[in-house]
Amino acid sequence: MALAHRLDRLGTETAFAVSAAAAAWAAQGHRVYPFHLGDIDLATPRVITEAAAKAIADGYTGYCPGPGIMPLREALADDTNERRGTAYTPENVVVQPGGKPVITKFLQAVMNEGTQVLYPNPGFPIYESQIEYLGGEAVPYGYVPTDSGFAIDLDRVRSLITDRTSAIIYNDLQNPISAESTAAEREAIAQLAIEHDLWVLSDEAYFETRYSGVSSSIASLPGMAQRTVILYTFSKKFAMTGWRLGAGIAPAEVAQVMGTMNTNNESCTTHFIQHAGAAGLRGDQSEVQQILQTLKGRRDAAVDVLETISGVQIARPESTFYLFPDVTQAMAARGIEEVNDFATQALHATGVSFCTRKHFGRPQPGEERQYVRFAYSGLPADDITEGLTKLKAWIETGETEGQA
Ligand SMILES: Cc1ncc(COP(=O)(O)O)c(C=O)c1O
Repeated sequence: MALAHRLDRLGTETAFAVSAAAAAWAAQGHRVYPFHLGDIDLATPRVITEAAAKAIADGYTGYCPGPGIMPLREALADDTNERRGTAYTPENVVVQPGGKPVITKFLQAVMNEGTQVLYPNPGFPIYESQIEYLGGEAVPYGYVPTDSGFAIDLDRVRSLITDRTSAIIYNDLQNPISAESTAAEREAIAQLAIEHDLWVLSDEAYFETRYSGVSSSIASLPGMAQRTVILYTFSKKFAMTGWRLGAGIAPAEVAQVMGTMNTNNESCTTHFIQHAGAAGLRGDQSEVQQILQTLKGRRDAAVDVLETISGVQIARPESTFYLFPDVTQAMAARGIEEVNDFATQALHATGVSFCTRKHFGRPQPGEERQYVRFAYSGLPADDITEGLTKLKAWIETGETEGQA
């Protein structure tokens, strides 16, 4: 007996391997500072937990419609329209167990075998994995450093589009690099999509994880709603990563086929959790604001130390909860050539655990600089300061003191 050939093309979130290494190090009695996983250690707002408990008590524990319950689809359409200036109806909303399934179902809906899909790299690793697993050709596009962070390499995007390109994945407020499009960049991507008749997956997982300014969606630009699927998730905004609740917000014909996929796969997203999600969208937002304030404090704690480390170059992003510093010189100072070795040695010397560029899609030819990613959503500001201060000492002097 053999397993299916397509499994050769299935990737994964290799960040989970970093979690395993950190857990193994902690199990040996060492203090670990977990910057590797984009999880949140903060409580889900009470308006949501109480609504979930009530929905269970009220008996919402059976199956519900595959595309989602109407109160949640209505709440999502209203919320999306209010924040993005769009004109969706509940017909455009297809509820999912998390944001991640939107990636797979989008690709299944719009990508034929052998067609090309452009995707950001470095980027969320599931894009590359799912395009290839489902028989498409994953075509990476990258980012270029700017004075204030990173920008999409638009010339490269233009040069990569062929008559076999069916879609582009666009992740504004980006994981792992926290890049944020200017209006001009967003319009340029939209223009290319229209010109070449492409579908767009707009991954908006971090749309509301921002500390200043206002987010904009590519779906609100003229001609875009009919070709764009928004990936919406409750995971980050509401600190609900483990609840598994999200949605695709899509042209009605795409939402409809994604709903049929739901029926084929999970039947429906957990019924009472959908009621809790609707309460989260409609209810009091004060705890959501507190989550954001806490994350902002953690960002500042992290950047305040990282920007003082010699050989580390870093910006202070206004969105997401990731930092993506250039550590090329820091690695040279420690005499380390391979970025994953740098991460392993840092873990063992300081307990600070983080991912590297290599966990976010296959590195591309010609990449010269070395980057790592810190997620600051999973540990308190004091621990952030303590851990990163140890990292600073190790990078600058080789000191490993303070490690249990
Ligand atoms: C860019 C991006 N998209 C999608 C997801 C999926 O989120 P979830 O499935 O938890 O909603 C994540 C999670 O980290 C992400 O970073």
